[in-house]
Amino acid sequence: MNSPNQNFAFLDLHPPKDNTLSEVCASLGQNAKSLSPKFFYDEKGSQLFEAITELEEYYPTRTELALFDAHLPEIAKLIGHNSCVIEYGSGSSLKIRKLLEALLPSAYVPVDISRDYLLSTATALSRDFSELSVFPVCADFTQDMALPAQVSQLHRVGFFPGSSIGNFEPTQAREFIRQVGDTLGANGYFLVGVDCKKDPLVLERAYADAAGVTAAFNLNALVHLNRELGANFQLENFQHMARYNEQQGCIEMFLRSTRAQQVNIGDAVFDFEVGELLHTENSYKYAPSEFMALAESAGFRCLKHWLDKDEYFGLYLLQAK
Ligand code: AVI
Repeated sequence: MNSPNQNFAFLDLHPPKDNTLSEVCASLGQNAKSLSPKFFYDEKGSQLFEAITELEEYYPTRTELALFDAHLPEIAKLIGHNSCVIEYGSGSSLKIRKLLEALLPSAYVPVDISRDYLLSTATALSRDFSELSVFPVCADFTQDMALPAQVSQLHRVGFFPGSSIGNFEPTQAREFIRQVGDTLGANGYFLVGVDCKKDPLVLERAYADAAGVTAAFNLNALVHLNRELGANFQLENFQHMARYNEQQGCIEMFLRSTRAQQVNIGDAVFDFEVGELLHTENSYKYAPSEFMALAESAGFRCLKHWLDKDEYFGLYLLQAK
């Protein structure tokens, strides 16, 4: 569906339809039960995540935004003009707007699997930045993908804020960064926001807020599956739990079964013991030296990084070798 407007073109790479039922049954059929964190993000889940980013306990969003305000002019000087910004996951519009205002790139390519959300955010940005060419790509950004032909002559800047990199296992994170390097090409820039290791109490508070917004976000994965798959999870029989795994360096989120119970999904039946944990998310935290080593091992050098005064959050400007 190409718009007559030369500054806007939509590329639909038709991500394969996933087989949610078999995927969920396989992950609940394991000894250690788990669900993919992607099940958080239906419409309600996206709203709950927005609410999380505004919580006093959830420091990453405001800390990263303050780093943008303080350092985007310098980042723009390092990157230069005539670039194409490729955003992996079309996320917070506030962050991308700040980046576009500072960088004044020629083109912007948001990549997201959610077609409707992608089109509505890309259309709004195209309206507000009239000089900017906007080429949304509907694709699974963890898979190899082609960029729109229109941006082939521009130097490329990948953008992956919000410490979403922390939701990958470290080996997957390396693989993802390597693949981003293939898309960006030699000397391409990659601006990444990454949450730092810190006092476990600060981390655990950020993932178990007093108002229970993160609990509602976690439980919403079950609401989503009840609706999408006709499952019969009883929400009152599960409890949100978040703990810092010091050895792995990650926050682990679970739903804890508060009683012995059975859950039906289609013809499948899953038994939960009292106290049994259903794993829903890992959020890895990286000391700056760890993240820079990870990026190096994935084919990038770190040109510069910036931390807030508490060293809670890091912004890394990488360049593909
Ligand atoms: C999206 N992602 C970076 C968030 C995080 O902090 O790992 C998801 C989240 N889970 C609970 N709170 C926020």
